[in-house]
Amino acid sequence: MDVSPLLLPILFFSFLFFLSHKFVQKKKLPDGDSDTNKIGLSDVVKNLQRKNFLTWTAELVVASPTKTINLLSCIITGNPKNVEHILKTNFENYPKGNDFVNLLEDFLGHGIFNADGDHWKLQRKTASLEFNNKTIRNFILDNLDREVVGRFLPLLSKAAASGESIDLQDLLDRLAFDNVCKVAFDVDAARLVGDTAEVGRFVWAFETAAGISIKRFQQPRFLWKLRRALNLGEERRLKEELAVVNEFATKVVKERKGRKREEIEGSDDLLSRFIAEGDFSDEFLRDIVISFVLAGRDTTSTAMAWIFWALSTRPEVQQKILEEIASVRSRSGNAGEMLTLDELREMEYLHAVVSETLRLYPPVPMQQRVCMRDDVLPDGTRVKRGWSVMSHSYAMARTEGIWGEDCKEFNPERWLQNGSFQPKNPYRFPVFHAGPRTCLGKEMAYIQMKAVVASVMERFEIAVVDEDGEREREIEYLITMRIKGGLPVQVRTRERHLPEERKD
Ligand code: HEM
Repeated sequence: MDVSPLLLPILFFSFLFFLSHKFVQKKKLPDGDSDTNKIGLSDVVKNLQRKNFLTWTAELVVASPTKTINLLSCIITGNPKNVEHILKTNFENYPKGNDFVNLLEDFLGHGIFNADGDHWKLQRKTASLEFNNKTIRNFILDNLDREVVGRFLPLLSKAAASGESIDLQDLLDRLAFDNVCKVAFDVDAARLVGDTAEVGRFVWAFETAAGISIKRFQQPRFLWKLRRALNLGEERRLKEELAVVNEFATKVVKERKGRKREEIEGSDDLLSRFIAEGDFSDEFLRDIVISFVLAGRDTTSTAMAWIFWALSTRPEVQQKILEEIASVRSRSGNAGEMLTLDELREMEYLHAVVSETLRLYPPVPMQQRVCMRDDVLPDGTRVKRGWSVMSHSYAMARTEGIWGEDCKEFNPERWLQNGSFQPKNPYRFPVFHAGPRTCLGKEMAYIQMKAVVASVMERFEIAVVDEDGEREREIEYLITMRIKGGLPVQVRTRERHLPEERKD
């Protein structure tokens, strides 16, 4: 039966039900916290028509005396003490929660990114051991070398030769996807060069499934559940694409398990490391690999797109990066295509530029948890069981009390003392999360971002195409904060000055 004509009325009444449900929840709020920090339904309706949810809530958080607001039973905070309380001190009371887990469960199962409790602990323990050692760092750089030098830079050369503008955000998405697939399960997704049939079908299915799953965050829960139960529209599509993703991933897992022990033990990708370390089921391994690919894919590419965007109007910052690359290369005598891990580590100014971009344009600008037992946050805000609690990294970057009067300015120097990079307290800068669930890919992300930015800048000038002279880019926010409409750029070749090859 074709049920699509029924869909509109169902959706309409579902939406009314959702609004009334939210309204009833609001009426039930206790009087614990200050009314000035409470945002009502009428404010939500009025403001969401005009503004983007992320920037609107950031304005409210920054303006609030406690840097915390209560938006229809959802506590949103940019107060570092609260953030520390939620992410570390009272960690057990603030899991991701069933609502979050249910949204991504069809896609991620109970992989690390989508698990709580013991299930999460077991994966976290093994993954932290395997993901932060020296061999994996070299493996990451070797893959980057192939991907950047062999694929990415030639595409930029082509664009420079033709003079045509290209969407840099899209290319960076492809690059990051290829990298994370290699590191997670040693598969070459080849998104930068056009895919081969089987892998190409997997990549397509993965991207489609990720897009549809993430869109569920925008809908009332019962709506997508209804569509799923009726096997309608995007939910039907999701089911079909997930079948492709799972079939491919399971095949890779089984094939890997079938390899010789020495071969598995000698491999550095995460899947092989997990197989070498324990007796895990195919499903468990598939879920963790898919979780890593989702977590590492558009976070890093989004960050790199914002970096190139930020650099495009700051020639003085570009100049300092070029001087740093030249000085690192002249010290090491490296005239090769790619910088080494040690050289990248030495580039403290570039590290500061990357961190400053992440501060102002955090790829995951808000992070959600749910409260298990009634609680009071350090700033006095009461939180009831079942309420959502969100930390707002985007708002924190724009808070004078945290970053000083120039908080809204792009100033890499704030990260440096006598030329050395100074890390900041992670609860004031929770861009990679903080506490027991800190991002596992932080180091990989920094290696990748620094290697890509340095390689591109050495060889090319990147000019952002500003339609109608518009400088600010509109934000597209679902889970990550992307540049709406992509990042069209023009590429020009830059003359490189490499050091003489060392004879010793
Ligand atoms: C600039 C790049 C990145 C940023 C800003 C970033 C940020 C984050 C954030 C905010 C979280 C916490 C999410 C939450 O629980 O709500 C997280 C978790 C995670 N990230 Fe990243 N990430 C980046 C790159 C990567 C990469 C490249 C990988 C892996 C290849 C990765 C793997 C993970 C994993 C596995 C988790 C889950 C950790 C856990 O729950 O224990 N991330 N990341």
